[in-house]
Amino acid sequence: MSKQVALTGIKPTGMPHLGNYLGAIKPALELAEKYDARYFIADYHSLNTIKDPEMLRNYTYEIAACWLACGLDPSKTLIYRQSDVPETFELTTMIMAFTTKGLMNRAHAYKAQVDVNKEKGKPEDHNINMGLYTYPVLMAADILLFDTNYVPVGKDQVQHIEMAVDIAEAVNRAYNKELLTLPKPVVSESTQVVIGLDGRKMSKSYDNTIALFLPEKKLKKLCNKIVTNSQAVEEVKDPETCNVFTLYKLFATEEEQASLAAKYRAGGMGWGEAKAELFRVLNETISPMRDKYDSLMEDKAYIDKVLADGAERARELAKAKIALLRRTMGFELHSNN
Ligand code: TRP
Repeated sequence: MSKQVALTGIKPTGMPHLGNYLGAIKPALELAEKYDARYFIADYHSLNTIKDPEMLRNYTYEIAACWLACGLDPSKTLIYRQSDVPETFELTTMIMAFTTKGLMNRAHAYKAQVDVNKEKGKPEDHNINMGLYTYPVLMAADILLFDTNYVPVGKDQVQHIEMAVDIAEAVNRAYNKELLTLPKPVVSESTQVVIGLDGRKMSKSYDNTIALFLPEKKLKKLCNKIVTNSQAVEEVKDPETCNVFTLYKLFATEEEQASLAAKYRAGGMGWGEAKAELFRVLNETISPMRDKYDSLMEDKAYIDKVLADGAERARELAKAKIALLRRTMGFELHSNN
């Protein structure tokens, strides 16, 4: 039996942050060891919000370089741009006919925008384009096109995968066969616990993120900005309620954690010292990947080549799937199917 398929996409809307790395990129790369992995750059999803071509191009390179720098091996894992696989958009149109408007009305991302509008006293549909409204359909097409079994994602994306299942079931029911594989979300435990500078969940919408590949100096500066209480140096401190320590735990070894926790509890350690220690372990983890990232961003021709290879292989798979669907749905005239 051939290996099961794991697939995920990242929208190019800015450099991934530590939360994205621990919650999405790292677990996805672990899954790639076991499954036939297909990881792509969801650039058409970005078009909903990014209309500056230079920016979109640059973010696309950033995401590609991030995947590669974090350890994606393009000889084993398929990496491609969504926009290089036009079969995605044909499948999107096909499944539109199987997607109820009511299902889209329930999508969290769309509802969140409606709530923002209501709060601001604007009309419900203000700032909502059809790309946002039908976002889950395009995402379902991404997934269903490649017979995906597993989709490593953050918790916020689980609803979208459930919608992909609903849509796939509607198609399968209509033609009375297993045309489309039903995907399952794989949610990493750590997504829930990556906090940002202010102690809330690390998220671009809270403006509290630490981008993955910052120059060392900037990383240090951000570590110093992490919110702590106002206890004085000599006071005894509680590591378990401290934002600095919460982040530290995600990157430090057991021994390092025990030793820093002891310093908290002994008193005599200022926040500056704890933050410097957090910076040290963070930087140690990130440095080798950052070096790789920086050199990749200097060699766009290499990234272009990797993406072109990926596109070719992805399209081969996609074309076969679309051909089957076309045949089944009656778009191929004179077929005996
Ligand atoms: N919606 C995902 C996000 O915002 C990105 C994405 C697009 C995706 N298509 C996908 C993720 C398909 C998994 C599978 O993070």
